[in-house]
Amino acid sequence: MAIFYNEEQRLFHLQAKDTSYIMQVVKKGYLTHIYWGKKVRNINPEQLLVFRSGVFSPHHDLEDKTYSLDTLPQEYPSYGNSDFRTPAYSIELSNGSTLTDMRYHAHRIIKGKPTLEGLPATYVEQQEEAQTLEIEMIDTLIGLKMILSYTVYEDLDVITRHVKFMNEGNEKLKILRALSMSIDFNKSDFDVMHLSGAWARERHIERRSLRIGNQSIESRRGASSHQHNPFIALMNTDATEDSGEVYGFSLVYSGNFLAQAEVDQYQSTRVSLGINPFEFSWMLGVKESFQTPEVVMVYSDKGIGKMSRTYHKLYRTRLCRGKFRDTTRPVLVNNWEATYFDFNADKIEDIAREAKDLGIELFVLDDGWFGKRNDDTTSLGDWRVNTNKLPGGLDDLAGRINHLGLEFGLWFEPEMVSVDSDLYRAHPDWCLHVPNRTRSEGRNQLILDVSRKEVQDYIINVVSNILKSASITYVKWDMNRSMTEIGSGVQVPERQKETAHRYILGVYRVMDEITKAYPNVLFESCSGGGGRFDPGILYYMPQTWTSDDTDAVERLTIQYGTSIVYPASSMGAHVSAAPNHQVHRNTSLKMRGDVAMSGNFGYELDLTRFTNAEKEEVKKQVASYKGVRELIQFGDMYRLLSPFEGNETAWMYVDEAKDEAFVAYFRVLGTPNAGLSYLKLKGLDPHKDYFIEGENTCYGGDALMYGGIVIPELEGDYQSVVWKIKKK
Ligand code: DGJ
Repeated sequence: MAIFYNEEQRLFHLQAKDTSYIMQVVKKGYLTHIYWGKKVRNINPEQLLVFRSGVFSPHHDLEDKTYSLDTLPQEYPSYGNSDFRTPAYSIELSNGSTLTDMRYHAHRIIKGKPTLEGLPATYVEQQEEAQTLEIEMIDTLIGLKMILSYTVYEDLDVITRHVKFMNEGNEKLKILRALSMSIDFNKSDFDVMHLSGAWARERHIERRSLRIGNQSIESRRGASSHQHNPFIALMNTDATEDSGEVYGFSLVYSGNFLAQAEVDQYQSTRVSLGINPFEFSWMLGVKESFQTPEVVMVYSDKGIGKMSRTYHKLYRTRLCRGKFRDTTRPVLVNNWEATYFDFNADKIEDIAREAKDLGIELFVLDDGWFGKRNDDTTSLGDWRVNTNKLPGGLDDLAGRINHLGLEFGLWFEPEMVSVDSDLYRAHPDWCLHVPNRTRSEGRNQLILDVSRKEVQDYIINVVSNILKSASITYVKWDMNRSMTEIGSGVQVPERQKETAHRYILGVYRVMDEITKAYPNVLFESCSGGGGRFDPGILYYMPQTWTSDDTDAVERLTIQYGTSIVYPASSMGAHVSAAPNHQVHRNTSLKMRGDVAMSGNFGYELDLTRFTNAEKEEVKKQVASYKGVRELIQFGDMYRLLSPFEGNETAWMYVDEAKDEAFVAYFRVLGTPNAGLSYLKLKGLDPHKDYFIEGENTCYGGDALMYGGIVIPELEGDYQSVVWKIKKK
């Protein structure tokens, strides 16, 4: 059993694989946080929870002034009743006040993990995999009920949390803030880590020490964003990749979010994460309920690497769904950087013919195949094939590609509309907008109001019709701008601030319907690269285009940073031309291949321009990737050297049985007269012996990990070496 309740102490003890999470109902029904960390058999709550009054801290409990809510470690706190720290939620009542007083009412412990209505979430396949605790908190004065849900996975150090608000009173309420979790740590000597960046340099690792006051990251762009990923971690200041305690928080949501860490006057730390309260509110009518997204909390006692591997396993196996969750992903070629908008059926067929020769399995036709789209100013919304470019239509083109022996994939950007489109001319109110205000354009386009049911239905129909019209087995689902003028033509004024969240719920419905109707299609999401690389989208689409930046050096930081939370099977990674189109750097074909192999491998350049020597090299790359893709896509990842710390990067993948490994090493700039470098491997079985492919010597797993392997002498910039290792 994973969840225990001690009636006498009113104590909840949640036990995940090697983790304990303990809460207690104290005094007049306040739910306090006692402990989260390495698994313990038991904790006497008094050992950690000390009731303190605090100077200048008012008392809410007038009969017992030995404590104040301001000093109490709480599970889901509010503002206004004497706790001055960041609240987890805020509700406006009809009298204008935002005071609520939620007390413990009841709880249930249930097998398995209930689904979240309308929202993506991690799941179980067998009831035995997890247990869920639902704690009911009630404000009897206004009839507001909150259900705090906690799920514990038996075999992973994972606890998930979310909250449901239910209005069981007689007055309308307005939710102003509804974060998915809050937790109070009894210390503040932590470092905080998050993944931040910009278009073409997504998810760079930021780590710094936590300071007194509030530190936060957030998105206000309508999507989870290139700028900040919905993830934050706290760790001991001496935590490394392989040692020290790390606490990860990852939000299963694709819209505006807020992640906060607040260190208070007594050096306690409050971490909270959820939908961004900025410009958000939600009317909660009588008998209505509101469900927050899920937060996945991971504890690691062995550094950042173990936290990442826990996220990878959970997201790979119990967040991603469908046939492709467990299927190796095809090697693809995408024509975007090869042709941009300038192509026709013959050009596409030429590239596909070369691709077949090189061992590539899937051709993806990117932007420009529909309407009169020859640049980015037009036609989004008009999902009809452009017969000037593809005279025989999609069916004919897909047939030609299939005939060559490749599968056929197609690009869409279904959430958008061009002003110059039949769709916009027919339905100018179908976009996000505010009456009489300028409709700001991003990449010359507007955003469809996907919060509206008829818009959702339109997208479902139009995409389905195309998917039915040709043999399409892969879809790239793009989304290329941030939200502005976030208003909906169908909402009453008091509900306008619900629009951004309703949009995301609409996207989820659309994606759910389409992906369920086409279970044999592999869906890859994209948002100008990695602008919506989050667990919410991964629930529907098991892979994401990691970044529009395909430069091999840039990709080291992007893919390394992304791997902090997301598995290799979720990352699209392509070899592109040199000089690179984003940074104009000339890297070797070998390094470009080796970097892209650490993900869902593909090419994104004009294959017909390869020299014969390049073709031979690429053939070998493709064959070699096919030999290790299962390991990369489904193995455990160990990071060895960080691109954020120097000139060298290395990582490796090991299968579950620890029989095979793939190691990749990259050196960005050449070093004059360099000494020898050794790379210490990780994750192997110290008791097993291994062969390195291409060598005859047998090495102990222990020797490879504790002694390391020598890196061959490399000449010049942009060098890489990969090793395949097999058990003797
Ligand atoms: C942005 C994507 O990230 C690119 O890969 C490409 O699909 C373009 N959109 C097409 O417009």
